[in-house]
Amino acid sequence: MSNYNIKNLEEYFQIYRKSVREPENFWEEIAEEHFVWRKRWTNVMRWDFSKPEVAWFENGKLNITENCIDRHLHIRGDKTAILFEPNDPNEKAQHISYNELYERVCKMSNVLKEQGVEKGDRVCIYLPMIPELAVSVLACARVGAIHSVVFAGFSSNALAARINDCDCKMVITSDGSFRGPKTIDLKSIVDMALVDCPGVESVLVVKRINSEVNMKEGRDQWLQPLLDKAGSKYTAEVMDAEDPLFILYTSGSTGKPKGMVHSSAGYMVFTAYTFKNIFNYQENDVYWCTADIGWITGHSYIVYGPLANGATTVMFEGVPTYPDHGRFWEVVEKHKVTQFYTAPTAIRALAKESLAFVDKYDLTSLKVLGTVGEPINEEAWHWYNNNIGKNKSPIVDTWWQTETGGIMISPIPYVTPTTPTFATLPFIGVQLALMDEHGQELKEKQVEGRLCIKYPWPAMARTIWGDHKRYYDTYFSAFDNMYFTGDGAKRDAVGYYRITGRVDDVIIVSGHNLGTAPIEDAINEHPAVAESAIVGFPHDIKGNALYGFVILKEVGESRKPENLRKEINQQITEHIGPIAKLDKIQFVPGLPKTRSGKIMRRILRKVAAKDTSNLGDISTLLNPEVVEAIIKDAL
Ligand code: PRX
Repeated sequence: MSNYNIKNLEEYFQIYRKSVREPENFWEEIAEEHFVWRKRWTNVMRWDFSKPEVAWFENGKLNITENCIDRHLHIRGDKTAILFEPNDPNEKAQHISYNELYERVCKMSNVLKEQGVEKGDRVCIYLPMIPELAVSVLACARVGAIHSVVFAGFSSNALAARINDCDCKMVITSDGSFRGPKTIDLKSIVDMALVDCPGVESVLVVKRINSEVNMKEGRDQWLQPLLDKAGSKYTAEVMDAEDPLFILYTSGSTGKPKGMVHSSAGYMVFTAYTFKNIFNYQENDVYWCTADIGWITGHSYIVYGPLANGATTVMFEGVPTYPDHGRFWEVVEKHKVTQFYTAPTAIRALAKESLAFVDKYDLTSLKVLGTVGEPINEEAWHWYNNNIGKNKSPIVDTWWQTETGGIMISPIPYVTPTTPTFATLPFIGVQLALMDEHGQELKEKQVEGRLCIKYPWPAMARTIWGDHKRYYDTYFSAFDNMYFTGDGAKRDAVGYYRITGRVDDVIIVSGHNLGTAPIEDAINEHPAVAESAIVGFPHDIKGNALYGFVILKEVGESRKPENLRKEINQQITEHIGPIAKLDKIQFVPGLPKTRSGKIMRRILRKVAAKDTSNLGDISTLLNPEVVEAIIKDAL
């Protein structure tokens, strides 16, 4: 039996039990047998959730890019590492071999170094899904700089906040991006952001759309001429196992985004091991995850996990609906994709279209399908299973978070029998707990509670950049000695887990994690707005959509409500990005508040879901009269 390659359910249980009984021995074996180290660790693991402090493979030395690139060169140097599929289907796909990737990453590392980037510096990457994005990520890792990738759909304000929070000295961007039929002018978004970012010394610009851009003297440089001059070898920096590899921002229920800090060694071991098993990865597979590298899914399961296994990973620049709704399936046929990993929201959107878009293509290469980011409803699951998987490719419904670094709950394909809407069993080494509201663990089967993790796993985030107290408060203060996920979950009679959704003020819209507070802050900056509250409501395609209740400053506001709604959404687009726009905006005379001044969101959620027959106990409300008014005018 190999611990690295789980072949049947009995093996899964055996290996799982070992990973729980002797976690240190278990992870030590995995780390030893499947990765290259510059120096062995002296201690496998140390932890204390009350601080919280976690370290894996202490004092071990490595560079993750040697594991993701160098070690493959002599065995699979000519194999495609990154298969780039452009936005425009008429533009040629690029097959970047491991040898080429090595050279491109080394050249980029030399450029970073020449531009003054040192080990530990933060570099912001704001790029579309083009090969330079993966190359920049890997080059940062190679020189020991900490990358902070910001999804290129975020606005200039959101970008500036992320650049300043971790004090990035460099930004890597492009003149623009292609997105379906549109082009987006990324460089001018960066220019706007940098007005407020005094710490940024240099900006490297990739040419992608060949647009005219403004280049600021002394700060901005085109990347290509620098690469042309750069050397094609670069000795990887030796990193400590616990040195930060990257920062990735995620929304919180309150305040500014949280810069989750991930380590080098633990993250590598866990993402590689999960990738191998959860996607049943075999040497000649062509694996495709449709996420953007701007999110954790792209970090772990487009870049690091696949490359650490020597896989071919597809990077797709486009959108599922361009040039038509068959694009995903066209790409699957064209590149003979074997594993396909996407979000339920994309499945729901495509399931609404004619099956002719699917049936035109040969999907027989597929052997594993995956979903991530939000619960998948039964209808979408069956559509995916019947029409894409043709009832023969197992679906892995993978539950995890930016904070967990890698997949935590998921079936193992061809091993774990799947049940629609259930993420099924904890992955190896993941010790779950369901807690009741009094802080007691619910140990029996068939219970529902708050989902916690009671033992460290190698890829867990180590802190929030610059705010360790917030890390403790957000994840470790709710339950003693537990990491609290913020999600609720059910466990059924066979021990399968089903995620029921967030139990805090984070709303998952189209698989994107959105905190209510930053959106409310953006709305409240509109000069006509006095106060606002956002809740989620069920939406056919997005899973959840956003409903805003807005109090205007002046009762007799003369502007048309439609114009105000547009302005409010414009305000959100500028502060956060279009992903956070509201589907519905209701102007209200007041918000239901408790005597302590807290908005009773439960009531607003019911109004938004058109389910006001039973509002529950509203006796603690200070202003019950507004509830009636809100219900009367509900949209
Ligand atoms: O609520 C859960 C939901 O997405 C949250 C994490 O969001 P983020 O950090 O952006 O990472 C998304 C990609 C890993 C979780 O707290 N979520 C993620 N996967 C699932 C899910 N909800 C249900 N089922 C899933 N498979």
